Amino acid sequence: MNKKVYIETYGCQMNVADSETVAGIMHSRDYSAETDINSADVIIINTCSVRDNAEKKIWNRLDYIKSLKRKNKNLKVGIIGCMAQRIAEKLLEHPVVDFVAGPDAYRNLPDLVSETDIGFKLSNTDFDISETYSGIEQLKTGTDEISGFVAITRGCNNFCSYCIVPYTRGRERSSSYKDIIAEVKSLANKGFKEVTLLGQNVNSYLFEDDENKVDFPLLIKMVAHTVPEMRVRFTTSHPKDISDALIDAIAENKNICNHIHLPVQSGSNKVLELMNRKYTREWYLERIKTIKEKIPDCGLSSDIFCGFSGETEEDFQETLDLMNIVGYDLAFMFKYSVRPGTAASKNLEDDVPEEAKKERLSRMIKVQNKISLAKNRADIGKTYEVLVEGHSKRSEEMLFGRTEQSKVVVFPAENAKRGDFVMVKITEASSATLKGIIV
Ligand code: SAH
Ligand code: SF4
Ligand code: F3S
Repeated sequence: MNKKVYIETYGCQMNVADSETVAGIMHSRDYSAETDINSADVIIINTCSVRDNAEKKIWNRLDYIKSLKRKNKNLKVGIIGCMAQRIAEKLLEHPVVDFVAGPDAYRNLPDLVSETDIGFKLSNTDFDISETYSGIEQLKTGTDEISGFVAITRGCNNFCSYCIVPYTRGRERSSSYKDIIAEVKSLANKGFKEVTLLGQNVNSYLFEDDENKVDFPLLIKMVAHTVPEMRVRFTTSHPKDISDALIDAIAENKNICNHIHLPVQSGSNKVLELMNRKYTREWYLERIKTIKEKIPDCGLSSDIFCGFSGETEEDFQETLDLMNIVGYDLAFMFKYSVRPGTAASKNLEDDVPEEAKKERLSRMIKVQNKISLAKNRADIGKTYEVLVEGHSKRSEEMLFGRTEQSKVVVFPAENAKRGDFVMVKITEASSATLKGIIV
């Protein structure tokens, strides 16, 4: 009889893609995908370590799973992903955890699971620099998926001083462009309408073989030409690698979406240097200026966090000032959380008091809400192509989808359905969403 595996995913889009890879690996070894945690034979939790909060969530979840294990003595529980890599031993000490596997150890996961049959707890957190999971058929659980991810690089070499990712994901490696093109084609054949190329520093992609040397601008053009009917997106770009060639590729290829997620983290040169971000405020703003010149309707989004070591009120003001200059459509905002083992945790004092971090974060969110509202109001009267993603939560008669700038639009369904491209005229705007009508 098939065993049923339930996979729960936390963290970034890379983890979402990895969970599909893991589902594919388990499926190839006779596991079927289960969507109800209560009916599973094996529960796998794919975890994130990026901030302390992310890990707290997992500990709480494990406490809940304890009750499931009481009901089903044969239930197996595994932790994979970044937290598994970071604190495998500690996780194994938790009474419900049977196995732990790091991000480079998924290929042999079914073996690891069956080896726990004899009652031992097991873990595999070996790094494997050659592991790109190419050739593995991912398993998507939705029935009419429209938007898919393809991981083109894994790992990160940047060692931003605050960040745990280089320690949990290992060194950066790029997949073969041939494998990437094959994966994108397979998504197109399955009816997908959109593909997002993924990497921690996606625009540092570089793959060389005997025939070619392919960098990110070339790769994204190859992808765009391979699937002209599909939207092509990419994330996350590092500001140091936003080249003119990449901006030109976006500007010149209709199906590469006019949206760049370009995390700035801070607007202060002093803080950027302490963060080891490898660019200055001036460099960043020059890149934004070039983007706006070459792609006038480009959507811009960012990750920003406050309260990093050494951040004064003046430094923080520089961040708010930069946010106003750029005018992000959307920003993901956080407060600094020390990650054990990182350079910052060893060399820098976590010297901004928690209260000040909270207060700065709430000011930052207020500033961004105001910017988002102004940016969204400026869209009123314009018409955008929208890829329909589904019914709006509030009403069956309303659909929602995204513009190529990645803004969410809600509109009356008419005869449109999930997966359609429709032209929508914007009639109303709040800081979070646009409303419109199909024209
Ligand atoms: N590779 C991407 C994303 C990394 S994690 C990049 O370089 O942009 C996503 C975001 O989490 C980061 O961009 C950063 O804003 C935030 N982040 C990372 N480490 C953090 C920490 N220790 N405390 C608070 N926020 C953090
Ligand atoms: Fe972390 Fe920096 Fe790498 Fe992003 S680029 S994953 S923030 S080390
Ligand atoms: Fe989290 Fe790991 Fe992604 S730490 S953000 S799941 S790479």
